[in-house]
Amino acid sequence: MSRSAHPAGPRHADVLPEGHYSAPPADLNALDGKVWAQTVTRDAHGVVTVGGIPVTRLAEEFGTPAYLLDEADFRARARAWRTAFGHDADVFYAGKAFLSRAVVRWLHEEGLNLDVCSGGELATALSAGMPADRIAFHGNNKSKDEIRRAIEAGVGRIVLDSFQEIVRVAHIAQELGKRQRVQIRVTVGVEAHTHEFIATAHEDQKFGIPLAGGQAAEAVRRALRLDGIELIGIHSHIGSQIFDMSGFEVAAHRVVGLLKDIRDEHGVELPEIDLGGGLGIAYTSDDDPREPHEIAKALTEIVTRECEAARLRTPRISVEPGRAIVGPTAFTLYEVGTIKPLDGLRTYVSVDGGMSDNIRTALYDAEYSVALVSRSSDAEPMLARVVGKHCESGDIVVKDAFLPADLAPGDLIAVPATGAYCRSMASNYNHVTRPPVVAVRDGEARVIVRRETEEDLLRLDVG
Ligand code: LLP
Repeated sequence: MSRSAHPAGPRHADVLPEGHYSAPPADLNALDGKVWAQTVTRDAHGVVTVGGIPVTRLAEEFGTPAYLLDEADFRARARAWRTAFGHDADVFYAGKAFLSRAVVRWLHEEGLNLDVCSGGELATALSAGMPADRIAFHGNNKSKDEIRRAIEAGVGRIVLDSFQEIVRVAHIAQELGKRQRVQIRVTVGVEAHTHEFIATAHEDQKFGIPLAGGQAAEAVRRALRLDGIELIGIHSHIGSQIFDMSGFEVAAHRVVGLLKDIRDEHGVELPEIDLGGGLGIAYTSDDDPREPHEIAKALTEIVTRECEAARLRTPRISVEPGRAIVGPTAFTLYEVGTIKPLDGLRTYVSVDGGMSDNIRTALYDAEYSVALVSRSSDAEPMLARVVGKHCESGDIVVKDAFLPADLAPGDLIAVPATGAYCRSMASNYNHVTRPPVVAVRDGEARVIVRRETEEDLLRLDVG
């Protein structure tokens, strides 16, 4: 790795330009345990290791960019959710955050269920041996083919998202001679405090059937009349990357209100309630996420209290965390290619990936942290913007962060907390191939999703 010098730039300007950052951290070599996977540490030579393996060795073996996933951490987080909710509740991992066959097997072994939202995710789950009755099938516009495949496979539940789908699922199930267990997804009218694109319980958006105006009650009426489906519960998902529990509280209150109305109108007490996912994780040291046991306690208390007040039997609760399980367990390893100091502004650090492996910064203005990981450094902090290699100026991975001023081409840097919605939202923009996911555990590393190659791209292009 070269350590060539580059022109002097705004190393540590007295007056910093506008941005998301707070003051430079006291120690640039420190790795905040809140944002890094559990086994990540810096060894005696200053090299960062994960699962006991130095990132320099992982880069040599698997190349960069690469998502490095700490399997022990993934399993520990999955188990923590499972344990926190106990046997009277179900934890469905939301596969959209990141799904692969290895992940399905870990989830199965750790006793979690799985939420899928497309035929592709369903196929992945089934091919890795997840029992179909532990799968929930989501989506606001499932195709007839997807519905048929899900029912044939015997999925535990289909979450109905529209009036059309109530009839569609009932008909397909009847054609197949089956009775499909379903939940109805409702929108409870909560404004979740998160980015607009990932808030899902306010009324003006595409998901769910609004409680307001009696629409959800009407959906229940129709579902209860159809033979092909068995309505087992109500589902609510209020959004994603949420820290404040009050949105869940309002959602639980309103969903239980609907359960009470259903009991009063139909004499039926629905046995299940799903409160969705959406719990936030730490992307930077400023974020303070809740622990699974705190979340479980809060949600269980809210539902129990509301049900007691409504004189209902407490339904079985389920939750669907995606990001909170996989997000913190992986980081993206990049090699620095070019460094451009812009006087009075900041230094642009270009890496060998970008918006094709992490679209979240461009799409949601997401904040990330970054660290030099192939060595430690005592150089002063330099205000940096980590950018990718794509032909787009919005191709930013980390908007504002401090890196050591002696950073040089060939250095490895890593962006933590990229386990969720990075590989799963990766693209081939500019015909850049998607990075591999390498699982690391107890000194061993194995590719669980291989690097895409140019041959893969050309194979799709049939001329
Ligand atoms: N359940 C349902 C019905 C969902 O729609 C979602 C996420 C989840 C569970 C899992 O949410 P989580 O626990 O992972 O926050 N691409 C965005 C996030 C989109 C979330 C979509 N639905 C991002 O990168 O922030």
